[in-house]
Order: sequence, then structure tokens, then C-alpha cells
Amino acid sequence: MNFDLENTVRQRKSVRAYESRPLAQADKEQLEACISELLEDEAPFPAQMNIRLLEAAPGTDTEKLGTYGVIRGAKSFLCVTVKNTENAMEAVGEYAFPLELLRLAPSAANRQPWRVVHKDDAFHFYREENPKSKYPYDLQRLDVGIGACHFHLAAEDRALSGQFAMLSETGVTPPPNMKYLFSWLAR
Ligand SMILES: Cc1cc2nc3c(=O)[nH]c(=O)nc-3n(C[C@H](O)[C@H](O)[C@H](O)COP(=O)(O)O)c2cc1C
Repeated sequence: MNFDLENTVRQRKSVRAYESRPLAQADKEQLEACISELLEDEAPFPAQMNIRLLEAAPGTDTEKLGTYGVIRGAKSFLCVTVKNTENAMEAVGEYAFPLELLRLAPSAANRQPWRVVHKDDAFHFYREENPKSKYPYDLQRLDVGIGACHFHLAAEDRALSGQFAMLSETGVTPPPNMKYLFSWLAR
């Protein structure tokens, strides 16, 4: 994708109240084109994913949208579905930039539930072992996915090539109360 990654990440912020107007046709078309491009790209983890742009029916109350229920007025949604398999939710120095964009990634309740251990040519990604949550779904996997995506896009932006892999053995002791998820291996 051709866009200014660093400024996009730095300018992005969470928006919790939306104007009550539908998306312009041109914006919808741009989103549809972006979705097609995403679905054509090779995903970092094997999973069957689908993305749809959905419009709320007129008069639908969307005030309770979201997990802590403060997002108001949204009328259009990106709905992402994936087959429920084991890896379904997961897609320093010169790496300061990828790590900085990881730091700027959004996370539910701003919890930043990731840890990354850098050893040799590998960056091992971890998440909290037993997160306390009052919700019946696992937002942390989504958070780490967004953070890892920031990391990978930032590496690509600086022409640092690498790929994600799930290793059976990392040779690294996990940080306390953290569970291994996957690694990014420099090539
Ligand atoms: C998976 C996920 C779920 C989130 N759910 C909500 C939500 O339900 N309500 C809300 O107000 N913000 C929600 N957020 C936004 C976070 O609170 C926000 O990303 C974080 O506080 C950091 O602020 P920033 O996005 O402006 O950098 C969510 C973020 C993520 C990644």
C-alpha cells in the first residue's frame, strides 16, 4: 500500500463520536478497493479471512457499540471474520522505528498487552498469560495483532525485510506472566 506510514500512525487517534452523515460514495469505493487489496495480499498467518463494509440500518441504536460502550453515532462498520482456528487471530538499533510504531499502536483500554524480546535476528512477541477480563471475548489477541501489524509495516517502510513465524522453540525465557505468540524473523 502506498501511503505515508509514519505520519498515518502518529496522526491516528481513537474517535468516539461520529457525525451523523453517511459515508460518501467515493469514500466507500476507496474502502472497498482497500479491502480487495488486503484480501489479495499474502497474510502473515494462514487463515481464511473475509472483510465486508456494512451499513447500519436507519434508526439503529449504535450507542452501545464497542466494548466499553462509548462509541456514538457510527453508521458504517468494517466487519472482519475469520475461521476459528488456532492461529486465526494473529496475522533495536535500525529496528527502533518498527518498535516505536508498535508503541503507538492502539489497544483496548490502552492496555498495550504486548511484550517483544529481541534476540539475534528475531523479535519474539508475547501477550499476558491470564488477562483479567469481564468480557467473554479476547481483545488482547486483536491488540497484539494490531501492534504486530504496525511493527511489520514500519519494517517494510524502512526496507527491513522479515516475516512472521510461529516457532516451537525460541530459546528465550518468556517475560514474567507472558505467553509466547509468534516471532518476526529478519531475513
Ligand atoms: C481492540 C480495541 C478495542 C477498543 N475498544 C474501545 C471501546 O470499546 N471504546 C473506546 O472508547 N475505545 C476503545 N478502544 C480505543 C482505546 O481505548 C485506545 O486505542 C487507547 O486508549 C489508545 O488511544 P489512541 O487510540 O487515541 O492512541 C479500543 C481499542 C482497541 C485496539
